[in-house]
Amino acid sequence: MTENVNHDLKVDYSRDELARQHFVSGMRTYVLNSLSSNMRTVYDNKVAPNFKKKKNRAPKTAPEIHKALKSETIFKFYSSMRCNTQEMVWRSVIPGIERESEELVAKTKILSQSTQKANGTLTVDPKLSIPRYTAELDVHLMPGNYHEEHMPDDVSQGAIYDNGLSVFAMGFLGERMDDITQSVSTYFTKRYPDFKPKAILDMGCTLGHSTLPWKERYPQAEVTGIDVGAPSVRYAHGRAQSYGVSTHFAQKDAEHTGFADESFDVIYSCMFLHEIPKKNIRAIFKEAYRMLKPGGVMLHYELPPNSMLSAYDSFYLDWDSFYNKEPFYKAFRDSDPQEECVAAGFKKGKCFQYVAPSLNFYGDAAIAKAVADAKLDNKGENHMGRLVDGVQWFTFGAWK
Ligand SMILES: C[S@@+](CC[C@H](N)C(=O)[O-])C[C@H]1O[C@@H](n2cnc3c(N)ncnc32)[C@H](O)[C@@H]1O
Repeated sequence: MTENVNHDLKVDYSRDELARQHFVSGMRTYVLNSLSSNMRTVYDNKVAPNFKKKKNRAPKTAPEIHKALKSETIFKFYSSMRCNTQEMVWRSVIPGIERESEELVAKTKILSQSTQKANGTLTVDPKLSIPRYTAELDVHLMPGNYHEEHMPDDVSQGAIYDNGLSVFAMGFLGERMDDITQSVSTYFTKRYPDFKPKAILDMGCTLGHSTLPWKERYPQAEVTGIDVGAPSVRYAHGRAQSYGVSTHFAQKDAEHTGFADESFDVIYSCMFLHEIPKKNIRAIFKEAYRMLKPGGVMLHYELPPNSMLSAYDSFYLDWDSFYNKEPFYKAFRDSDPQEECVAAGFKKGKCFQYVAPSLNFYGDAAIAKAVADAKLDNKGENHMGRLVDGVQWFTFGAWK
């Protein structure tokens, strides 16, 4: 099930290990499809009617639904199965990485130093202090998080995230597991065809899944990915070099990067903010505003805000905040993304949001249609298109 790790840092898993990974992916499919729909049925047929009988109204908020469902057997079963399969994802990939950890370091060094296929750069800062909200947490139950190091030049945490994501995503995110960025950046290039950025920054890049597609969209631009985790950026650089995409990676804190004022045309992040406390998101947005050139754009593709979802869907997504070591997830989803942009200095009229259909699932034509529909609606950039069922990615941001 680690077939999406299709570059030179691929781990040579045994047949037993691969079988175990397949089993874990299958188990996750069962939990996310069958168990989750059973839970919804119990909610519709029992929990919501009981709530209505008692309070004379339907549940209105995600916390109300959470409280009402919590004592149901199906909720407990779903939750413990989800936690267990999440832990099994990491356990199914770690033994092979431990076995090959020294080899992975050596291979990454060779890839990083070679200019045969690509010539991106790598900067690691051993003095960087890792923010507490990352240093003291194994986010989404991933042992060691994105930054822990056990040997010189360690890349293991990058490898764990890459292989683990492949088991976790069950083929859902496309061949290079970059469907989110592929979809969002395709939408962006179609919606703003005359915008030609020269310098692009990806904040919280981990392995560079989110970084490389922007270089592919804008080959003339210098594209840089930053992350606080040294193993992540080392691995990201090796991976990019292996794919032959010249991209720069640096170990930096997005709150104070050291980049010059007005040095980027595009500053973005992919599934990054929901792991960050609100006060640090505010500092990151201010830093982005400082680094953006006038006429440049900040954008973030993220989980949709609770205000755009039904109470049940909000409850369902917020589950991670309570049970999957994602403590900042709910507060982020409860906030108003545009208010946060304005607080960082962006003008309200320059804010936008959109929903990009998945390139992997629906293809380029569906994205072109979404762009054409959004333009036809003629409601301005603040009108995001429809957030409907199906695979699609929510994005918000602002022009400077
Ligand atoms: C969920 S991952 C992002 C995934 C990645 N963008 C992708 O699409 O595959 C969040 C990343 O943000 C990094 N991070 C957390 N706080 C950071 C900060 N203040 N500055 C830079 N990176 C940070 C973490 O180390 C982690 O690698």
